[in-house]
Amino acid sequence: MSNRIAESFIQDLVLRSDIVQLIDGYVPLKKAGRNFVACCPFHTEKTPSFSVNSQKQFYHCFGCGASGNVISFLMEYAHKNFIEAVEMLAARLGLSIPQGEYNAKQAKHSSLYDVLRAAMDFYRHELEQDQKAMNYFQQRGIDAETAQRFALGAAADQWDRLYNHLINKKFSAESIAAVGLSVRSDSGREYDRFRGRVMFPIRDRRGRPLGFGGRSMDAEAQPKYLNSPETPVFHKGGELYGLYEAEQVTRSLEYLIIVEGYMDVIALSQHGIVNVVATLGTATTSEHMQRVFRLTSRIIFCFDGDSAGQKAAWRALEAALPVLSDGREVRFIFLPLEEDPDSLVRKQGKEAFNAYLDSAMPLSDFFFNQLSQNLSLETPDGRARLASLATPLLEKMPLGVFRTLMLDELAKKTRLSISSVQKIVPANPELPSYRPAETASTARKTPVRLGLTLLIQYPHLVQYIENTAIFKEVVVAGIELFAAVVDYLQTHAKQTTASLLEHWRDQTEGRYLERLAAEELMTPETGVQAEFKGILLYLQKLAVEQTIEMLWQKASSVGLDDEEKSQLQLLIQQQKNNE
Ligand code: UTP
Ligand code: MN
Repeated sequence: MSNRIAESFIQDLVLRSDIVQLIDGYVPLKKAGRNFVACCPFHTEKTPSFSVNSQKQFYHCFGCGASGNVISFLMEYAHKNFIEAVEMLAARLGLSIPQGEYNAKQAKHSSLYDVLRAAMDFYRHELEQDQKAMNYFQQRGIDAETAQRFALGAAADQWDRLYNHLINKKFSAESIAAVGLSVRSDSGREYDRFRGRVMFPIRDRRGRPLGFGGRSMDAEAQPKYLNSPETPVFHKGGELYGLYEAEQVTRSLEYLIIVEGYMDVIALSQHGIVNVVATLGTATTSEHMQRVFRLTSRIIFCFDGDSAGQKAAWRALEAALPVLSDGREVRFIFLPLEEDPDSLVRKQGKEAFNAYLDSAMPLSDFFFNQLSQNLSLETPDGRARLASLATPLLEKMPLGVFRTLMLDELAKKTRLSISSVQKIVPANPELPSYRPAETASTARKTPVRLGLTLLIQYPHLVQYIENTAIFKEVVVAGIELFAAVVDYLQTHAKQTTASLLEHWRDQTEGRYLERLAAEELMTPETGVQAEFKGILLYLQKLAVEQTIEMLWQKASSVGLDDEEKSQLQLLIQQQKNNE
């Protein structure tokens, strides 16, 4: 089945489905005021913090931060991929999926994905004729079926082979550059970013390529791996290499192994250990952790045996601590020096690797081993040092059984009483349980951000917007996204929070919008309209102010022409009237 289902059809599915009914079929919901609640299916808890809102057609857990619409729920709870989720929803509504219907607007919207897909297809095709690349994969032990499954390819050692191919396919030079496949030389010529490399496409859960990693085939060539840059569709800090491929071959992820390299994922997968992903050459972030914990509650990190591996493991531990609510488990495998998962599984086979999995080190052991290194716990000094190293880390943990056990362990090791340990690691009152991404920047409520939050939660507010020109004039953080959401709502009638988010799924801004959708507003529902109008008025005033400022500056430098002079007068008058 094609990956290309018309966006309008998907929107229609989201609008016609009933999220309460759907979720209730998996997780029995109870009515509580205007929402429906349950104990969260994405993390373990005793009191319900998972809430489903019928008006927004959106779920959100105040405990672990899981949120989304009907499609997200099927993907995350039932481990469906995007296409399967759409198929299930269509089946529930008795609809069949129309094939190959595109309109111009949608074509434009999806064009970045199309460029990337065309490039992936091209690289795959090129591999068949590239003897050096074929030999390279063969020498690394990758069989043909695995190469197919991971859509491996090759970029020829020529300046603009891909570029010319894509231009011939009628893709624009801008879109090729926008996805990071071409680079402009100082003389203004476009050339291919990836040359003379074997290519690893990085795909999202829908199977769409978002970017590439390219490995050089010569030991000397630098860098060893070249990756696509961050682009509008490629956000390295959150993506996981191999997730799509893993979900293609296994439906339930009882646990997930996280390794460091592309080749590690591929080699393990070929040897039958398929539930494995890698971060994209970046350290593990809390964003990664949040994502993987929605797929499974058990994670095993597998790092190289060298000191870089140890460091990477420690950073992963730090990223995991804030999301370690009860029921979630993190373990670590440290391979022998000089080995990585790829070399190990190829030399010693699946069973040997499974033995490592079975003896993986619990996070608590790794935590205390690492911190106690070079300390003598026989001395009061050493024990005090351990307490002071552990405190800032344990403070980050969400309240729960696991945190309590860690504190117990610290008490044992430092020979302090539990109550003294509880005093030095106080429960953070700001953090009753973990709320993701509540960083300083997201907690700040600028008018634009509040306006956007209101608009996402109450899309009908768009009707009060008369003048969209001001969004172009005014210079203020976040206004582009605000304008984009307004534009979307003005061209698509009858949207809900859920359908709006669907449009932004898998785009960098989508994550941000989802967070705003889940935010609790201080404004009571009766005051929403007035608040929104207030923000529009504020933006209008700001636009006037900024234009006046700009004209004054121009007046004092190059001077104003007659038209500008009367504009200035008019604006000043308007400003007075506004006051
Ligand atoms: P490694 O160097 O450990 O990769 O880097 P590897 O997978 O074992 O490589 P092979 O076996 O020599 O082919 C781990 C990961 O770090 C990123 C890549 O994502 C790589 O898979 N990396 C590494 C880069 O992005 N750039 C580099 O130059 C090196
Ligand atoms: Mn390797």
